[in-house]
Amino acid sequence: MANPQPASWRERLYPIIFLSNNLISRIGVILVTAAAVFWVFLLPSYLQGEAASAYLGILLFLALPSGFFLGLALIPIGIVLYRRRLGGTPAITTEFPVLSWSNPSLRRLIIFIGVVTFANMLIGANLTYRATAYMESVQFCGLTCHTVMKPEYTAYQNSPHSRVECVKCHIGPGASWFVKSKLSGLGQVVAVALNNYERPISVPVANLRPARETCEDCHWPDKFGGDRLRVLTHFSDEGKMTKSVLLMHIGGGGARGVGIHTAHVGKGVRIRYAHSDYQRQNIPWVEYSRNGEKRDFFAAKAKKEDIAKMDVREMDCMDCHNRPSHSFETPEGALDRMMAAGVIAPDLPGIRKTALEILKKNYASTAQAESEIPAALERFYKEKNADVYSKRQAAVQSAAKGALALWSRNVFPEMKITWGTYINNIGHNDFPGCFRCHDGEHKSTDGKAVEQDCNTCHSLLAMDEPSPKILTELGID
Ligand code: HEC
Ligand code: HEC
Ligand code: HEC
Ligand code: HEC
Ligand code: HEC
Repeated sequence: MANPQPASWRERLYPIIFLSNNLISRIGVILVTAAAVFWVFLLPSYLQGEAASAYLGILLFLALPSGFFLGLALIPIGIVLYRRRLGGTPAITTEFPVLSWSNPSLRRLIIFIGVVTFANMLIGANLTYRATAYMESVQFCGLTCHTVMKPEYTAYQNSPHSRVECVKCHIGPGASWFVKSKLSGLGQVVAVALNNYERPISVPVANLRPARETCEDCHWPDKFGGDRLRVLTHFSDEGKMTKSVLLMHIGGGGARGVGIHTAHVGKGVRIRYAHSDYQRQNIPWVEYSRNGEKRDFFAAKAKKEDIAKMDVREMDCMDCHNRPSHSFETPEGALDRMMAAGVIAPDLPGIRKTALEILKKNYASTAQAESEIPAALERFYKEKNADVYSKRQAAVQSAAKGALALWSRNVFPEMKITWGTYINNIGHNDFPGCFRCHDGEHKSTDGKAVEQDCNTCHSLLAMDEPSPKILTELGID
């Protein structure tokens, strides 16, 4: 083998030809090369980790890596099959290089494989990292299956958690929940592809990870503050603004003693309850245990033999905060918000009643609502209040736009979601919420009821007053 002449380009190509000298491997080489070339061109997107659109994202971060790895797998598969097909044909065995480092063809082959493998590892590592990261992104979760996730994504963007990735609550840390969620995610992809997913998606979400494992990654119950002042603004049908001022006894243990959180998720506290419905609204039995001391509360007409057949759940954050991120509004609440912001002028005569009527009507599709809601509101002033319309056309148009905006944030006919479809368990005004247990009717055998005193959970500092004195005293108003 004493042939020190520099290898010709033909000889250099030899390993490639050798490796891909069959159809399957050749397809593999084409796939890998094509993916690698695309990768080079799209490198800026990969380095950024973001795609301009959800669909480009699927191509970039899912299709391309799949092609790349499929190609990588096909090359050796092709070689093995090809070898087997040729069997012991002497033609190929004699062409086999001598297994020695001094054999230049073998050396080139090994160097080639080394270089290609190294390059593939670099590209592959980046592709896989980007693919997993992409599947965890808000863009993938919220936008890929556009119709399905639109309601949650829309509400999410207007929530205190709009900077928290979907996976932080829906998957949480650790490998086992990652695998579980990816498996159930596969089922969801199939359901979307077959167009047989639930409309609306039913809640509570089955198999949602226990809230204390996800929420407590960021929120630490021991550190919840003492009290929190809340000012709630409402408008009457005549457009008069009133305010309620509540001091919420958030409570997290420590000096203040019992507060909302200490009572339910404090140290040593465990609350279990039975519910007769899937949505957990009807709760006939509650068990409260604190440091081993137990107390049972039964609803007025509860029968023990019925309760024995019901599902039992241990209370966690989710039993109150079931809408931490997908907080849909009531039409009244949404109008209050828009009127307080001035988008819908409160002093337009009859605006609240008219807007409520229009908002609560059924629309078959988003497109229908988009054309009818603003038109109906304008018509009301044009036809019935012509003088108001002529003087305040801009205010009427702004109100029409505002009404449509708050409808679009809360109602999704394509997913059969309308006002009130999703129950919110915080509070007691719009839904039973806290009063599922704190209704004064859940009593222990010694006659003590789950507390309903109006100052247990909050101090009512003002209720529906035009300008509460307490706010002036605090210097807020
Ligand atoms: C702060 C935590 C949190 C974040 C962030 C979050 N979710 Fe949720 N999500 C929840 C909880 C809690 C529920 C369960 C509601 C229930 O079971 O009643 C839920 C329920 C859902 C549901 C079921 C339908 C519904 O409205 O209850 C969907 C779909 C959903 N989330 C999608 C998403 C998507 C998409 C994102 C990101 C854009 C996201 N979630 C971000 C906490 C979160
Ligand atoms: C990745 C971190 C993270 C996770 C996980 C998380 N949150 Fe939050 N949460 C935040 C941040 C940050 C804020 C503050 C947002 C602000 O002040 O604008 C917040 C605010 C809140 C608030 C106060 C909202 C308000 O009106 O001021 C509540 C309630 C809350 N989270 C509940 C939950 C619940 C329940 C869960 C679990 C389902 C959860 N969070 C999971 C980061 C997180
Ligand atoms: C018994 C019902 C209940 C349970 C259980 C519960 N919370 Fe709360 N939480 C509330 C209420 C009510 C408020 C006050 C809301 C308001 O201000 O209107 C609140 C407020 C909060 C806030 C805002 C605190 C602040 O200072 O503004 C956070 C964060 C929070 N909860 C997180 C959690 C987490 C995490 C868990 C589970 C470990 C949890 N909560 C369990 C009812 C509950
Ligand atoms: C599943 C039933 C259940 C629900 C729902 C529930 N609680 Fe409770 N809560 C209890 C039980 C049981 C106790 C302990 C018995 C008692 O002290 O009255 C308790 C105690 C409390 C206490 C302490 C009362 C005291 O002794 O000073 C507060 C405050 C409280 N709850 C607030 C709330 C708020 C706010 C909500 C709604 C966001 C809520 N609870 C929802 C079952 C519940
Ligand atoms: C078990 C706890 C609890 C008890 C008992 C309780 N509340 Fe509340 N209340 C809440 C919570 C939680 C909210 C919701 C605050 C929010 O919007 O986040 C609330 C909200 C309110 C609001 C404001 C509603 C709004 O939108 O303006 C009023 C008014 C109110 N409560 C009055 C009362 C009265 C009157 C009683 C006595 C019959 C009472 N509450 C008993 C927990 C309680």
